[in-house]
Amino acid sequence: MFDGSGPPTGYGHDMDDLTWSVSWETELDDAEHPALAGLLARAYPHEAHRFGAGWTWTGARPELRVVARRTGVPVAHAGIIRRFLRALPDEGPAREVLVGDVGLVAVDPDQHGRGLGRALLARVVETLVGLDTPFGFLTCGPDVEGFYRAAGWTRLDDVAVRTITLDHRGVTDHDPAMVHAAGRPLADWPAGRTVARDGQMP
Ligand SMILES: CC(C)(COP(=O)(O)OP(=O)(O)OC[C@H]1O[C@@H](n2cnc3c(N)ncnc32)[C@H](O)[C@@H]1OP(=O)(O)O)[C@@H](O)C(=O)NCCC(=O)NCCS
Repeated sequence: MFDGSGPPTGYGHDMDDLTWSVSWETELDDAEHPALAGLLARAYPHEAHRFGAGWTWTGARPELRVVARRTGVPVAHAGIIRRFLRALPDEGPAREVLVGDVGLVAVDPDQHGRGLGRALLARVVETLVGLDTPFGFLTCGPDVEGFYRAAGWTRLDDVAVRTITLDHRGVTDHDPAMVHAAGRPLADWPAGRTVARDGQMP
């Protein structure tokens, strides 16, 4: 299913020389991690120390990764982990919802603003559809909400996310929580003003 061949269609010529891969975590060669860590450190300069030892995750380690390479060098990266969230309505029982939780979204800073991030997110959704995962889900800073919106993601209005921080504390996060339809239409997203993510973000 994940042959990684060919760029996504509908993007500019800048995309023509990219090689895409979708790798399960146990199948990614250990030798790939230093270059991926370098990309993540450049994309997240305030978090660079977390990737300093060649680690390519900060919270939950991804289950699979979507990576774009140019002449063998990684230039865009996203991590995905499938998990059940719990949508907590004001009354009544929680409803579980399977999502592909997306994180570690990064484009090489030298290549920002050329559509690479949008192409990356298209690959992410394509991957989730291929896995028959109903929805994509992510939380993000308000500064990048527009990026996800531009790529077709929808903010869950007035929804807070109970989650576990990188330093392992339980918190209620009011930053944007974004969803994207994959195997199911967005209309099927369960109601509830709180979503519990019983783990760390990827
Ligand atoms: C966010 C990031 C992945 C965007 O990658 P990119 O390749 O520059 O994005 P694109 O060029 O594909 O932009 C796609 C669209 O999103 C918009 N966009 C990009 N960054 C944006 C931002 N921070 N806020 C609002 N819109 C943004 C672009 O204007 C473009 O819109 P358009 O198609 O209508 O012109 C990249 O800036 C990055 O790696 N940032 C550092 C890491 C980070 O913040 N990751 C997200 C963590 S949740």
